Amino acid sequence: MTDPHFEGKTALVTGAGAGIGRASAQAFAARGARVMLCDINLAAAEETAQMIVAAGGEAEGVRCDCTDWAAVEALVNGAVNRFGSLDFAHNNVGCGVNKPFDQLDENDYRFVTDVSFKSVFLSLRHELPVMRAAGRGAVVNTASMAGVSTTPSADIVYSGAKAAVIQMTAYAARMFGPDGIRVNCIAPGLVQTKIISEMFNEEQQVALASGQIFKRAIQPQEIAASVVFLCSAEAAMITGLNLPVDGGINAVR
Ligand SMILES: NC(=O)c1ccc[n+]([C@@H]2O[C@H](COP(=O)([O-])OP(=O)(O)OC[C@H]3O[C@@H](n4cnc5c(N)ncnc54)[C@H](O)[C@@H]3O)[C@@H](O)[C@H]2O)c1
Repeated sequence: MTDPHFEGKTALVTGAGAGIGRASAQAFAARGARVMLCDINLAAAEETAQMIVAAGGEAEGVRCDCTDWAAVEALVNGAVNRFGSLDFAHNNVGCGVNKPFDQLDENDYRFVTDVSFKSVFLSLRHELPVMRAAGRGAVVNTASMAGVSTTPSADIVYSGAKAAVIQMTAYAARMFGPDGIRVNCIAPGLVQTKIISEMFNEEQQVALASGQIFKRAIQPQEIAASVVFLCSAEAAMITGLNLPVDGGINAVR
């Protein structure tokens, strides 16, 4: 199901070695985009790229620590050099530590804000000027429902960092709209990925999903579909939005 809006264009996906990022990279490729994808884990990035190529798509998987200015700059330049443009970006890297308040220390603060907030800033900082020069582009940042309302499944720093991603998304949308660029974010609820199975046992996952209208974990592909929608021609008038993809948590809370 290729789509002329995506065919021959370039999508960049960060944190694409697993979970939501992997599904998003596959979804862009399925619509005909060429995908530059990265992960801090090179083998995982390469595995995603191989999966896309095996399915008939075009992709390159590279190592990038998205908390590092020079690495993100090289990533964005690498996408343009390899594929000739940068049309879509999914800034997806993020992580919490799931510790109670009185166990959080300064290292946790630095780690969570770097991975969940600084990474998105660095990605935007390097992507948006390239898109502005081309006069077009669509970006989706991964926020979280933890950035919208409180949840027992997230630490306070992660929640604050994701709220900051939502605000930074709106700000970027306002600044770069006149240049033909749309910037949105998604707020996933509980998604069935590695990070979740490492942090919560099965019983805890069922309890967390019970707060949703649809009482099951969300599949990464269901998040990826929204990312691609926000980059599609059908979303031409949507910018600065935080889209909950949350099984109905937003409505219940
Ligand atoms: N899984 C959920 O329930 C859920 C809910 C809301 C929001 N999110 C957000 O979705 C995003 C993806 O989460 P996921 O569940 O797919 O996680 P995941 O752990 O399955 O995948 C995250 C990937 O990012 C990579 N990564 C981590 N730090 C990196 C860095 N500094 N630079 C580059 N790559 C890095 C990891 O190696 C991993 O492959 C995150 O921003 C997360 O906060 C997840």
